[in-house]
Amino acid sequence: ITHFHTSNDLNGQTALVTAGPTHEAIDPVRYIGNHSSGKMGVAIAENMAKRGAKVTLVMGPSQETARHPNITTIHVISAREMFEAAQKAHRTTKISVFAAAVADYAPADQSKEKIKKSSDDLSISLKKNIDIAATLGKNKSAEQYHVGFALETNQEEENALEKLKKKNFDFIVLNSMKDKGAGFKHDTNKITIYHKTGKKEASPLLAKVDVAALIVDNIVKDL
Ligand code: CTP
Ligand code: CA
Repeated sequence: ITHFHTSNDLNGQTALVTAGPTHEAIDPVRYIGNHSSGKMGVAIAENMAKRGAKVTLVMGPSQETARHPNITTIHVISAREMFEAAQKAHRTTKISVFAAAVADYAPADQSKEKIKKSSDDLSISLKKNIDIAATLGKNKSAEQYHVGFALETNQEEENALEKLKKKNFDFIVLNSMKDKGAGFKHDTNKITIYHKTGKKEASPLLAKVDVAALIVDNIVKDL
């Protein structure tokens, strides 16, 4: 695949990318998390940085490292911390890409001591986390551009279109779970982009770096 973007088509632009999973502490040694690698978000941050944007990457616990002088990485653990860092960066940011796999729920109370094994059954009460993309989407100005992701196992298009609207995205990237080699942990991905204008674009199975370039191409076209 060939990309025709010039290397500086995001010169002078500012961008925010959320990436990776979040970990929600149960006690000092345990957490609720997910299998997000953070690779997609890092690839998008690197692509925008190469094209000249100044990028703030707000990243949950991940093995990945973004390496570009235009990228400032803020490491966070929980959804709450990710929200606070993202909200701060969002105030001065033109482009926001919400690539993080934010935990939907967190333990209602965090035990200060390690929970000891006792009865055969254990329940942990959970509370819904703040929706970072939806909350910042409500404060979005006319100049700001938001991109979201959706990973669905059923009614993919319907669910993606609902999120596009509800979270005030300019476009949403649907990750196909059905294809081998797509999604978590893999280095490849297959996506469909749904624009708020109704435009729809499907990709073949691509390396994550090429998916990132395609996503950023879609942003640049709209700026
Ligand atoms: N998102 C977010 N904050 C959350 C949950 C999700 O910013 N607390 C963002 C994700 O980064 C992604 C988009 O919202 O860009 C959709 O995430 P997804 O988990 O698919 O949607 P949910 O609204 O959490 O719905 P559900 O998990 O029930 O499908
Ligand atoms: Ca979710």
